Formats: sequence, structure tokens, C-alpha cells
Amino acid sequence: MPSTLKTAAQFFALRSLVRGYALLGDPYAAVIASPPNRDPYPMYEKVRAKGDMVRSRMGAYVTPSREICDSVLRDGRFLTATFDESSPVPITLVEDGEKIVNPVQDSFLMMNPPNHGRLRKIVQPFFTPRALKDRTESIQKIVRTYLDRLDGRFDVIEEFASQVPIQVIADLLGVPDSEKDLFARWGSSLAETLDGVWSYKQLKALHATIIEYNDFIDGLMDQRRRNPQDDIVSHLVTRHDDLSREDLVATTGLLLFAGFETTVNLIGNGVLKAFENPHTVAPLGQSPEYAEGFVEEVLRLDPPVQYTIRFPKERLELAGVSLPKGMPVMLMLAAANRDPRVFKDPLKFDPTRSNAREHLAFSAGIHYCIGAGLSRIEGALALHELFKRFPDLAPDGPVARRKSKLIRGALRLPVRANETKRSLAVKNS
Ligand code: HEM
Repeated sequence: MPSTLKTAAQFFALRSLVRGYALLGDPYAAVIASPPNRDPYPMYEKVRAKGDMVRSRMGAYVTPSREICDSVLRDGRFLTATFDESSPVPITLVEDGEKIVNPVQDSFLMMNPPNHGRLRKIVQPFFTPRALKDRTESIQKIVRTYLDRLDGRFDVIEEFASQVPIQVIADLLGVPDSEKDLFARWGSSLAETLDGVWSYKQLKALHATIIEYNDFIDGLMDQRRRNPQDDIVSHLVTRHDDLSREDLVATTGLLLFAGFETTVNLIGNGVLKAFENPHTVAPLGQSPEYAEGFVEEVLRLDPPVQYTIRFPKERLELAGVSLPKGMPVMLMLAAANRDPRVFKDPLKFDPTRSNAREHLAFSAGIHYCIGAGLSRIEGALALHELFKRFPDLAPDGPVARRKSKLIRGALRLPVRANETKRSLAVKNS
């Protein structure tokens, strides 16, 4: 059989198998196979009703418990996700003898100690509280610039929620404005496949994206070697000549894709939460402090990253279950954030909740999100300024959801704003 057909047939078999298990109520299959527009949270509650460690027939365990998720994430006996070698997805691509680096899969997000720490340490200085404080004003300027372009009816994802994080991360990395429009397309293609590649078409699109990204970042690194600026790419190529090309491409790529695909959804999910809870709109537009609590509660109740997976590196006991080496444990971060043993009245959206920060939206342990502080600032500024500028912002059509089950958020969210109130709000700001 030609290899294209063989790969397509393998995908078909995989899809059918997972959907079959999902229909039988298997928790792992149900998470990765649920349709994009279906609310996943009732399904998470069904898993919770089965217990803290639920066995999947697909050879994995699933946990909705906040305590277990947190302890696994901090436990050095668990490794971060590794790809199954029997997967039909050819992982390593080579073009003209040079490896094509996958910015997510080959990055330190997927590495274990000591390599993980070696690379994380290099970019950490760009995310310290001090470094973030220095960037806050420029983020506010970016938010206002994009708001100035909006009027009447618009898509809040396309024209605002995705523009702000793309601009922030492009500035941080040193990507010229003329090139940043490519990111939106690359980001969607990568984000769509984070929870698995499900078709030959998707696989081809993913490969094309990765190859384009490699060419782009090789070019940018060359430019910055010749003409360094005050940005992460310049810092990496001039101060860390011990890093391999693979490490450089993957580290910058991770920051780029982790940095905007997630934050777009934080802002989008925040707009949806404001629409669902109209009493929050006025304080959100009036008070930056309220906006910070609001963002924390969005991260808890509707987090952009829904789950992560860890693998025990040896046979071990976890919550009364004996796990063989390599058995995947799906940590349902989004379900853990609704654990009633930690969060009182967990389904209630309460921006003043005192322990909202105990959520696991940014994970925990050594892989705790390096951009947590940055996205908190972006999310709070974006939502505060948006509802300050458009206090009567309202939905204006159906919401289209992203296909990914791992990344949760809206792809299209049409809204409308009343222009009279808008001019008043601008005058008063
Ligand atoms: C709302 C926005 C964001 C969310 C919900 C989010 C979520 C996460 C989660 C859950 C992880 C850990 C995954 C795991 O443990 O398996 C992670 C890791 C990471 N995130 Fe974020 N993230 C966000 C924004 C950002 C931003 C703005 C950046 C950078 C500019 C960023 C960069 C990273 C990096 C580099 C890692 C890998 C950390 C490591 O492995 O040590 N993220 N993020």
C-alpha cells in the first residue's frame, strides 16, 4: 500500500478506536474525542463521580482530583509527556540533512531533568516580576492601540484577543511587525494538533507549519547574530553560543506558541464569562484590581489548558493504585480546578474568591508555566480596558470553538458595541 494511504488508514483506525471507547464511556477517550462545541465540564463531573483515579481501557489513568494532580506534577518520579513510538505520526522531519525542529515537542516543556532546567534557566530572566513590571506599560499601550481600531461590530478573538498576545510575544522575542501575521495561522495549526494528529490532512498542515517556522526562525537568528537588539532571540544567539541550533529553535518556538495560543483563549474565555455574568461587567471595566481577580477566576473555571499527562519512570503506588512504569496518567487540570474539596461552591463564578489562585491552570512543579505572570498581566489589562472602552459590549452571533480538546477557547466570537456609549467612555477615560 502506498505510504500516504497507509498513514491515512492508520489515522482512520485510530479515530474509530478512540470514538468507540468514548461511546463506551471510557474517560480518557471521552476527553480526547469530545466534539469541539460540546461543553466538556459535565463529562469531567462524570469522571469525578467514578473516583479519584479512574482506569481507562486505553491503558491510562485519569484523575480529576486537585490533590493528586498537584502531587504528581511535583513528584520527580513522573516524567513529562513523551510521544508513543508506535504512533502513526512521523515525529522527526529532516530537510536537506538538517533536522526540522518541532517547537513544542522538541522543547524543554517536553524534557526531563537535567536538560529541562538547563534550558528553562536561560529564558527565566525575561519573566521575573521585575522584568514583567518593566513591560507592563508597553502591554497597556498595545491593548489600547488595538482597542482604538475597533468599532461597532467585530470579532473579539480575531481583532483583539489574538492580536494583543501576538504583539506582546513578538516584541519580547524581537520579531518584526511585518512577520507577525504568520503566527496566527501557525498557532492554530499547532494548537489543533497538541492533543494528537487525527488525519493525514492535519499531519500535512502541521509539517508545513513546522517547516515554515524553522525557516523563519533560522532567518531571524541570522539577522540577530549580525545586528543584536534588546530581545530574547538576540540574547540567546549572542550569549549562549553553546546552545545547539535545535535547542535555539525549540526554545524560541515554545515561547512563541505557548505565549500566545494560551493567552488568546484566556482573554476570549474571559469575555464569555463576562457575558454569562453581566453583574461582573461594570466592576471589570472600572477596577484593575477586580480585573485581576476576574482573570484568576476565569483561569480556575475555564482554563485554556485543560489537561496534561505524566508517565511514571518506575513502577509506583499512587492514591492506592499500582502504576506500571510508563503508564500515562491524565491530569485533568480543568476538573481539578472544580474540586469541591478545595473550592467552595466550585461552579459559581466569583471573581472575589479568596483561594482562586489554588487553581492548576498553569500546572505546578518544575514545568509550572514560565509565562504565568505575563499572561496574568495581559489578561487583566485586556479585559479591563475592553470593558472600560465598551461597557455595553454584547454577543452578536454564534461562538465557534477551537477543535482542540487540550486548548479550550473560542475561535470566533462576534460582538457589537454601542457607539454612543463608546465615545462617552473614551471621553471619560
Ligand atoms: C493563560 C495563559 C497560559 C496558560 C493557561 C498556560 C498554561 C501552561 C501550562 C498548563 C503549562 C505546563 C504544562 C505541563 O505541566 O505539562 C505551561 C508551560 C509553559 N508555558 Fe504557559 N501558559 C500560558 C501562557 C504562557 C505565556 C504567555 C508564555 C510565554 C511567553 C508561556 C510559556 C510557557 C513555557 C515556556 C512553558 C514550559 C515550562 C516548563 O516546561 O518548564 N505560557 N503553560
